[in-house]
Amino acid sequence: DAKHLYTIVVLGASGDLAKKKTFPALFGLFKNRYLSRNTRIIGYARTKMDQTSFEGHVSKFIKVKNEEDKAALSRFLSVCSYQSGQYDHDGDFQELEKHIERVEKISGAKERLFYMALPPSVFIPVAACLKKNNYRQDVVTRLIVEKPFGMDLDSSRKLAKELGALFKEEEIYRIDHYLGKEMVKNLMILRFANVIFGSVWNRHSIDNIQITFKEKIGTQGRGGYFDEFGIIRDVMQNHLLQILTLVAMEPPVTLSSEDVRDEKVKVLRFIPPIAKEDILLGQYTKSEDGKEPGYLDDSTVPRGSKTPTYAAATLFIHNERWAGVPFVLKCGKALDQQKTEIRIQFKDVPGSIFTNLSRNEIVIRVQPGEALYVKMMNKEPGLGMKTIISDLDLSYSSRFNSSVIPEAYESLILDALNGDQSNFVRDDELDAAWKIFTPILKTIDEGEIDPIPYALGSRGPEGVSEFVAKYGYTREQQQYVWPQHSE
Ligand code: BG6
Repeated sequence: DAKHLYTIVVLGASGDLAKKKTFPALFGLFKNRYLSRNTRIIGYARTKMDQTSFEGHVSKFIKVKNEEDKAALSRFLSVCSYQSGQYDHDGDFQELEKHIERVEKISGAKERLFYMALPPSVFIPVAACLKKNNYRQDVVTRLIVEKPFGMDLDSSRKLAKELGALFKEEEIYRIDHYLGKEMVKNLMILRFANVIFGSVWNRHSIDNIQITFKEKIGTQGRGGYFDEFGIIRDVMQNHLLQILTLVAMEPPVTLSSEDVRDEKVKVLRFIPPIAKEDILLGQYTKSEDGKEPGYLDDSTVPRGSKTPTYAAATLFIHNERWAGVPFVLKCGKALDQQKTEIRIQFKDVPGSIFTNLSRNEIVIRVQPGEALYVKMMNKEPGLGMKTIISDLDLSYSSRFNSSVIPEAYESLILDALNGDQSNFVRDDELDAAWKIFTPILKTIDEGEIDPIPYALGSRGPEGVSEFVAKYGYTREQQQYVWPQHSE
């Protein structure tokens, strides 16, 4: 059962993120008894709402499959309450404090988790009000914060400084929800608990690494918001770079959060800023049939915007393990399919006695349909000595079919409740990440790189295959289709 007894306060409770991710994740934890029955959850936002409309808002995205879920939901809602208030009024936060003390009297909770699902503009004012009105020396306090963590190195440092003046680093949990995904969490075990992978995980055996994020949906009315950021800040600088870090880092001394994050920072510091020639940008236009609008057709997007909705970038890690190995990160919205995967392509067999060989690949399918498969050459069964590509396939749906894979947010909120920061982004890690991306983002923001148009629903901008080939990725020589392929 739950180890800690918390009061959880969700700030920005009336917003989209809270509705779609935070409350469903809290419900998942509650239902599976990872939250103590006595936990109390308080929503706080500007919108005025009574208990009934708050309950409607909270349960909107919670899936109820059976009677048991229904009963759990009703118990969950009975521990949730709401209070409206401004984001910069001490008086409102003092009211919140009374509210917290009231529920703590009943629950006996001694720990507080503040979940900040807030727009960046009110982030610091809220943190300041919390510190002033809702912070107790004798109460364990933790703060989960959501991106954007600034727009570039300078703004990120400013934010870190302001937040750092209010809360200690060990109280701050910067969330990157990709770190809560099952297959991302699996990377350390794959690498450091298997001799067969560990010993080939370097430039001597690996030719190139591709990390790909594809999404079918476009910006869908969020264009105005997205336009300030673009796909690099939205997905690449955080989610894909985090995956890269876990793929590339050296083994940590122990699994403690500081040891893990020390290694992550170290590998990031070996990556020089991305060069202009190592980037390709795209922006989606109408679908081929003209039915779905393009990015610039969104009335909230500034006319003529050059903000990328697709980006491919190649990063290099100048250390002994990885020198010369390209890490190609690709991400885009409004594409032909949804998937996130890591593809590790090995070198050609040196001096091969066979012809028509394809390279070995380890493919880690993050989503959808968690899987790991290793592409390998095999003898085609039967007479003769023909080679054929086959695979060692660990598809979770068949191998672990009775396991429930938790939502990323469930996994991370539970870590925060347990005080485990290993899957959260440390301040110096964020700094190192921004150093890699800030110069190229500046060039892009100044409009110096024209995005290549691609139709909504297509495979992406023209030139991506050449871009990837330039960094050594080769397509298989023989026809190969992964049997589980869900396309
Ligand atoms: C978010 C981005 O961080 O991640 C979104 O802001 C993106 O633009 C989302 O759609 C993707 O997350 P997931 O878990 O659906 O792959």
